Amino acid sequence: MDAALRDILIKMPKAELHMHIEGSLEPELIFALAKRNGVTLDYPSVEALRRAYAFTDLQSFLDIYYAGASVLLKEQDFYDMTWAYLERARADNVRHAEIFFDPQTHTDRGVPFATAITGIHRALRDAEAKWGMSTGLIMCFLRHLSEEEAFATLEQAMPHRDKFIGVGLDSSERGHPPEKFARVFERCRELGLRLVAHAGEEGPPEYIRTALDLLKVERIDHGVRCLEDSGLTQRLAREKIALTVCPLSNVKLRVFDKASDHNLLKLIEAGLAVTVNSDDPAYFGGYVNDNFVQMFEVLPLEKNHAYQLARNSFSASFLDNQAKRKCLDEVDAFFEQ
Ligand code: ADE
Ligand code: ZN
Repeated sequence: MDAALRDILIKMPKAELHMHIEGSLEPELIFALAKRNGVTLDYPSVEALRRAYAFTDLQSFLDIYYAGASVLLKEQDFYDMTWAYLERARADNVRHAEIFFDPQTHTDRGVPFATAITGIHRALRDAEAKWGMSTGLIMCFLRHLSEEEAFATLEQAMPHRDKFIGVGLDSSERGHPPEKFARVFERCRELGLRLVAHAGEEGPPEYIRTALDLLKVERIDHGVRCLEDSGLTQRLAREKIALTVCPLSNVKLRVFDKASDHNLLKLIEAGLAVTVNSDDPAYFGGYVNDNFVQMFEVLPLEKNHAYQLARNSFSASFLDNQAKRKCLDEVDAFFEQ
């Protein structure tokens, strides 16, 4: 890739729509928070923890990811984690970030729902006030837990309804199909929440279809396996359902054997509203710009693709139309230079 294209990827204004805030905890911060809170980790050092980031599939990652989150106890811990991500995202020219958090990972350890959401939300507010970065928080239900537990989480969230814009579905995909959560998503829709779900990451294309039909989600997180089903691919293109694709995550979790096997360009060529995101940047070897740069290095992607991906990131966001237009104008102006 030439230096000019690399520069465009790094500097272009972009939105990030798929990142788990707990997945932004760098090993150094995990150790600092463990020390501050008197939590004992199973790893003797930052280096030993980082060496454990050799994943074979989604579950092997989730086991370490949930262990890493165990150092988060106080509201300030959630603030510090979120602030570190926002500073990093700002350096990557992220203008708007829609951020996932997993409340059940914390409430199941006895950390109150309010502690987690208040710390995260305070950092989001500070980024808006200080830099004009816009943000939205999306609460994810853990799909390896029951629908009843998801309903209980929604109940705990209601006093904080002003702090989040939508709900998602994450954690172990195989064996936990979308239909398990049909009723809780229906309730969320009645409440006016925006709806997304992880589907077709490790799970089959059928999970993408049921996420659309039964959960009525507006975007699919990952969705890369849709290409195995041409009817579904055509439907996603026709209905302009955005896919929040996370290339480095897919390589680290062995959805694709190597970066050059990734289907990002094929998804774009199928007419899909693709976006590029970092998922769990501290665990997968890079933030959003690293995802762009590494894909453009190994696939025949060019400037017109960069333009399309930057536009898609805002078009697929949950910004209101006026804010979306302003961001899209900024993208257009950047590419006209
Ligand atoms: N939680 C954090 N990252 C995830 C991913 N890539 N898939 C499912 N659940 C997750
Ligand atoms: Zn994810």
